[in-house]
Amino acid sequence: MTNLPSSTRTIPEVTPVPRHIAVIMDGNGRWAKQRFMPRVMGHQRGVETLREVVKTCRDLGVEYLTVFAFSSENWRRPADEVSFLMSLFIKVLEREARRLQRENVRLKIIGDRNRFDDELKKCMLDAEQLTAANTGLTFTVAANYGGRWDVMHAVQSMLQHHPELALTFTEEDLHPYLSMSDAPEPDLFIRTGGEQRISNFMLWQLAYTELYFTDTLWPAFDRAELEKAVASYQRRERRFGRTSEQVQGMTGKGVAGA
Ligand code: IPE
Ligand code: IPE
Ligand code: MG
Repeated sequence: MTNLPSSTRTIPEVTPVPRHIAVIMDGNGRWAKQRFMPRVMGHQRGVETLREVVKTCRDLGVEYLTVFAFSSENWRRPADEVSFLMSLFIKVLEREARRLQRENVRLKIIGDRNRFDDELKKCMLDAEQLTAANTGLTFTVAANYGGRWDVMHAVQSMLQHHPELALTFTEEDLHPYLSMSDAPEPDLFIRTGGEQRISNFMLWQLAYTELYFTDTLWPAFDRAELEKAVASYQRRERRFGRTSEQVQGMTGKGVAGA
C-alpha cells in the first residue's frame, strides 16, 4: 500500500501521546453569561485558553493541533457578534504571530477565505508566511470551515485538475485536495462546553478519531483538563476494525497508553 495517512487504507501507528489533536472550542458565550458579562468577553478569554493549550501541546510533544475557531454556520449569529469575532481574529493574528514564530510553531488556516474582508485575508497570509518554515508544532485554525465544504471543495478541485477521473477516482486521488492532506488524521478529538456533536468539523478526517467530550467551558479549559483528555485517550484501545485479540497480540501497537 502507499504511505497515504488514511485510517481506512492502512492501520496508523498508535503512540502514547496523540500526534494530532483536534478541538472544538465551545462554551465561550455560556462562560461569559454565567459571569453576567457579554458573550464576546467569553471569546476574548477563550484566546487566553488557546495560547495555553498551544503551549501544553508543545510541552507534551503533540505534532499537530487543529482548532475550530469559526464554522461555516457561525455566520448565522447576530451581526455584532460576528463582527466582533472578525476584529478579534485580526487583533490576535497580529499580536500572536511573532510569539508563534519565536516558539517554532507553524500556523496554518483552513476554510473558505473568500467571505473574509481583505484586511483579515492579509493578516492570515502574513501570519502563515511568517511561520511557514517552522518545524515545531503545526497549529491549524479552522475559520469559515465546514467538513462538507472541505469534501465538496476537494472533489471540485480534483476534477478541475483531473477531469478524466470523474468516474474512477479513489481515496488516493482525492486525498491531496483535502484541507488537512499534510497531516495525519486526528488521534484525539476534544469538544468542550458539554455538547456531544461534531457540528460539521473535520467529517472526513475524524473517521477513526477517539472522541472526548467535557462539560468544562472553553475559557476554563486549562492544562490539567488537557492532560485529563490525553489520559483518557491513553486508556482507549484503537482497533481500526480489528478484534481486541488481534490488537493485543501486537504488543504495544494498539493501545495508546502501551
Ligand atoms: C465557541 O463558543 C466559539 C465560537 C463558536 C466562535 P460559543 O460562542 O459557541 O459559546 P456557547 O456555546 O454559546 O456557550
Ligand atoms: C462549533 O460551535 C463551532 C466552533 C466552536 C467554532 P457552535 O457553538 O457553533 O456549535 P453548535 O451550533 O452549538 O453545534
Ligand atoms: Mg457554542
